[in-house]
Amino acid sequence: MTKKRATPSSKNTAGLRPEESVRVLITDARVKARLKQLAREIRRDFPTEPLHLISVLKGSVFFLTDLARELGGEVSFDFLSVSSYGHGTDSTGEVKLIKDLDVSIEGKTVIVVEDILDTGLTLKYLLRFFEEKKPKHLRVVVLLDKVERRIADVRADYTGFVIPNEFVVGYGLDFDERYRNLPDVCVLQFASRGKAKSA
Ligand code: IMP
Repeated sequence: MTKKRATPSSKNTAGLRPEESVRVLITDARVKARLKQLAREIRRDFPTEPLHLISVLKGSVFFLTDLARELGGEVSFDFLSVSSYGHGTDSTGEVKLIKDLDVSIEGKTVIVVEDILDTGLTLKYLLRFFEEKKPKHLRVVVLLDKVERRIADVRADYTGFVIPNEFVVGYGLDFDERYRNLPDVCVLQFASRGKAKSA
């Protein structure tokens, strides 16, 4: 008997609205495999250092928790929140601090854990903000990088996947707070408007 192939849609898509659809870009299995490699790269650079992971809420939460479990050694977390997007898929270009860090990062080896690098404006703001607080080392790991969208002159030290200029949801990433719980990274598409564009 021939085995049925998996459909190219993400699991748990029951909450989809009629005008919206998702197409899997990166499966959860590929994400998990890449995280193991990223963790190895980071630990190669900092084999024995305690690592202080800082996640930008809320899109990076799954990324941080999965990555942290691959890192081994001494790891601590903190979270901050900024707003760079309003509703929908378009950037306002503004970055505002909504929730500050809970503990000082002075003298610590800090790894900023970001879900996606788009224009780079958020990361540029964050790096300036963190550098003023005098960490021992400051590195950035991003799961996804839309290289062609970059405006600010910033780059990640560790990158999961370079992706095309499409609006993605799932694995923590949202569209108006929805779709974060999709296990795969998916492209969001609108039936009436064609592709959702982040440009
Ligand atoms: P940047 O400042 O333009 O680099 O944007 C960074 C933030 O915008 C990310 O942390 C996300 O919250 C959001 N963002 C950018 N592109 C996407 C996307 O394709 N899907 C969901 N959120 C996105």
